[in-house]
Amino acid sequence: MSVLIKSVRLYGEGDPVDVLVADGEIADIGTGLSGDEVVDATGCVLLPGFVDLHTHLREPGREDTETIETGSAAAALGGYTAVFAMANTNPVADSPVVTDYVRRRGEEVGLVDVHPVGAVTVGLKGEQLAEMGMMAAGTGRVRVFSDDGMCVYDPLIMRRALEYASTLGVLIAQHAEEPRLTKGAVAHEGPNAARLGLTGWPRAAEESIVARDALLARDAGAKVHICHASTAGTVEILKWAKSQGIQITAEVTPHHLLLDDSRLETYDAVNKVNPPLREKSDVEALRAGLAQGVIDCVATDHAPHAEQDKCCEFSQARPGMLGLETALSVIVETMVNTGLLDWRGVARVMSERPAEIAGLDDQGRPIEIGEPANLTIVDPSASSKVDKLNSLAKNTPFRGMELPGRVVGTMLRGRVTALNGEVRR
Ligand code: DOR
Ligand code: ZN
Repeated sequence: MSVLIKSVRLYGEGDPVDVLVADGEIADIGTGLSGDEVVDATGCVLLPGFVDLHTHLREPGREDTETIETGSAAAALGGYTAVFAMANTNPVADSPVVTDYVRRRGEEVGLVDVHPVGAVTVGLKGEQLAEMGMMAAGTGRVRVFSDDGMCVYDPLIMRRALEYASTLGVLIAQHAEEPRLTKGAVAHEGPNAARLGLTGWPRAAEESIVARDALLARDAGAKVHICHASTAGTVEILKWAKSQGIQITAEVTPHHLLLDDSRLETYDAVNKVNPPLREKSDVEALRAGLAQGVIDCVATDHAPHAEQDKCCEFSQARPGMLGLETALSVIVETMVNTGLLDWRGVARVMSERPAEIAGLDDQGRPIEIGEPANLTIVDPSASSKVDKLNSLAKNTPFRGMELPGRVVGTMLRGRVTALNGEVRR
């Protein structure tokens, strides 16, 4: 069955065209085309399907907050065609038993390509390297490894992990947080946390690890990827490291591009996240860094949590925010409507760069005849109030906000996975 995307502007450029999709590929691009199913995309922009390098799907272990199935649905609704499922599950994804399962379950659900992330160290404890080789060789085909949630803090373990990863041809993604500087920390260290009596998480805890890992990657001739960059100083260090030819890449989350620590005023733990929301000056630096390519891409750090783990004392609440279904709108608000990125730029930071960083050869591809039909249709003129989302968990800090741009439809290898807010299983 063929699908015709009717009257859409590729990357928001030029005149509207029709895009015919058949057998999983883009079969034709032109005007006056016809197909079996027609998706009217008048006024919409066509982009390559989004790729999220950083998603917590919570299966196995916390299926009360999200599953591979519910998270895949949220991803499809958010315009994603591939997500990387983080390893901090229970049990931890530190062996092929778990990573093979995550890949297979993602395939069964079939709404988005679910790539398992393997742990760098056994049990995320930071002490002993996990069997990365076995996870890479298994049916899970793991290509990205991370202890996310925890930092690979020991410099010798990190050095060995980078060396090992480089011989395997896989990527290490670091959650940069020097744990001795963040003991008991729940909020960005600054005037707001001080006034509110919250223990501070200093910028240096992130920046010192980013700088250290840049040097370790340089010496190992390895690649390193920095998760959720959150400070102006991190942007400066990345700029320096890239200027030295170090193979370092970085992501930023939608929430760090929009929100700052003035949100803490209410003590509502929906605003608690790790790394924490920083100051306005950091938000500005992150936006500029993303626009200039110093930060390579956007990653959601979609982190579902149960009501009882969020609606409690701020210090006891778990850190993390939902992100998959709101990412595009937050990027339109912070990057497109501010003139920092055009739609080509959105394609770069939400699809092309993350696909390149993870080494996916069928995602983030140009919208051309013969290319795999992993596509996202966006209505740039729509605007809506964030209300109920489709994740199992409810912890979105964006609830009630009026945000621009809407994902109208998503297509995975030519199959419509979401259309007009409905998932197509
Ligand atoms: O806020 C966060 N939540 N940061 C992390 O690093 C982990 C994540 C989670 O798993 O909830
Ligand atoms: Zn993290």
